[in-house]
Amino acid sequence: MDYKKLTRREALKYLGTTVAGMTLASTSALSIFTSCTEKGKKRIVFYFTATGNSLYAAKKFSETPLSIPQILKGKNRVFEADEIGIVFPDYRAFAPLIVQKFIQEVTLKASYLFSVITFGNYDCNVIESWNQFAIEHGVHFNYITTIKMVDNYLPVFDMDEQLKMDKQEESQLEQAVADVLEEKNHIPSLTEEERQQCLRVLQRVPELFPISSELLLEVNKSSCNGCGICTKVCPRKNFSLTDKGVEHTGDCEFCLACIQNCPQKAIVLKRGERNKEARYRHPRISLNEIVLANKQ
Ligand SMILES: Cc1cc2nc3c(=O)[nH]c(=O)nc-3n(C[C@H](O)[C@H](O)[C@H](O)COP(=O)(O)O)c2cc1C
Repeated sequence: MDYKKLTRREALKYLGTTVAGMTLASTSALSIFTSCTEKGKKRIVFYFTATGNSLYAAKKFSETPLSIPQILKGKNRVFEADEIGIVFPDYRAFAPLIVQKFIQEVTLKASYLFSVITFGNYDCNVIESWNQFAIEHGVHFNYITTIKMVDNYLPVFDMDEQLKMDKQEESQLEQAVADVLEEKNHIPSLTEEERQQCLRVLQRVPELFPISSELLLEVNKSSCNGCGICTKVCPRKNFSLTDKGVEHTGDCEFCLACIQNCPQKAIVLKRGERNKEARYRHPRISLNEIVLANKQ
């Protein structure tokens, strides 16, 4: 391939699948990851994903979204653009721990800040709680929305059943993309009745994380072929290949990337799975993209 003849747009497209795994060292390196919107605005989009929904969504906003686990591995903590977005999954009406850590550590300089939260079944008060948390850490969003997609929460949902549902993710994403292009200012708030209902639901859902993966997961030694995918999709480096097979005893994000992406279906929850044979990854996102996003 003649790189000299590539336009910037083509170059970004070509880099698309590899940049997620790269660590940024300096602000000058960042310019290549800043996409330009139709309106000529410089935009940076950060994402976290376990099963691809949030990466699929993030790609609608930038050709080269940046993986939060990779950013946290690097040294750069100050990011500047006209528009900055953060895309991640809803975990029990809040942000995943790694996304909380990200927003606490970075300085985001942009005149327009937006966040897109993917969820599966009930987004509860996630917009309010995330917005409140962000404000407490000096980030003032202009726009936050939620996108309903496949629910990857294995303790409650059967992935085969989820895949049969049409949650109209494309039309929701189209609307969000148009809103952000217009730099719409909108953070929806709940009515008092909706807030109370949400609190009642949350009380019934047990707190499942943070917790040691030892209590949550088990590896079926007879199915595991030692491919090591679990060591690469875990954003916390919790898995390792040893003489005795795969080991995991450490801190867990509870993102379920290890279970969902295991090609042998050899990793299962110790209890509460609806269907141990059904696993999910967004149909338009490859295993390699999850590896590049999360590998430690
Ligand atoms: C630990 C955990 C908690 C979750 N909590 C919720 C929730 O409270 N409400 C909801 O609608 N979906 C919930 N989900 C589903 C995810 O938010 C949803 O499937 C998301 O799109 C997955 O994004 P990803 O593919 O980028 O990882 C949860 C998933 C996990 C793993």
